[in-house]
Amino acid sequence: MRQDFFPDGVREAALAAAAVDPGKVAADIGAGSGFITEGLLEKGLRVIAVDQSAAMLESAREKFQAIEAIDFRVGDSDALPIADAEVDYVFANMFLHHVESPPKAVKEMVRILKPAGRIVITDLDEHEFEFLRTEQHDRWMGFRRLDIEEWFAQAGLRNVKVDCVGENCCAKSSCGCDSARISIFVASGQK
Ligand SMILES: C[S@@+](CC[C@H](N)C(=O)[O-])C[C@H]1O[C@@H](n2cnc3c(N)ncnc32)[C@H](O)[C@@H]1O
Repeated sequence: MRQDFFPDGVREAALAAAAVDPGKVAADIGAGSGFITEGLLEKGLRVIAVDQSAAMLESAREKFQAIEAIDFRVGDSDALPIADAEVDYVFANMFLHHVESPPKAVKEMVRILKPAGRIVITDLDEHEFEFLRTEQHDRWMGFRRLDIEEWFAQAGLRNVKVDCVGENCCAKSSCGCDSARISIFVASGQK
């Protein structure tokens, strides 16, 4: 289902934007079944995978069962189950458009970053496909890149960049009468 929705190039763009170093600790927020987590593990990082859904984390746990470098934590974007300055990197792929308050979620993700740590968010550009809200529980119909820049700046981040991933998110409505093709951005910043 994930592969139909967005391609592996999104993960490559996210990891490249953070220039991750092996041996460091990364948080994957809204980790789902572990798409970003998988890439981080391959690069030799330890991962704290957070999701509000215990069932999603359980499916990730089954997928990565032999791997000790992951810590699964159930928790919400408003109060992440991670201490202040605990991680070197924060990643959030296709997560922000699900939360109630994106600027609040960004601040909370910055809280858990060590000084000089990096955050990378990959998500949808602003779009008009209402069926994603009614059928897929999206709260936000993508984002304006200027808003993302503003929320990053308000959270105290520097070296803020928002670029095109160069890939699209594709989805079909359940009736088959509407289909979406939405560009994806990669936003990064440093604490
Ligand atoms: C579209 S999925 C993306 C999953 C994964 N990041 C990926 O790239 O495949 C969004 C995930 O965010 C989680 N989520 C949504 N709202 C959340 C919140 N407020 N706090 C924590 N997790 C949330 C959902 O349970 C879901 O697993």
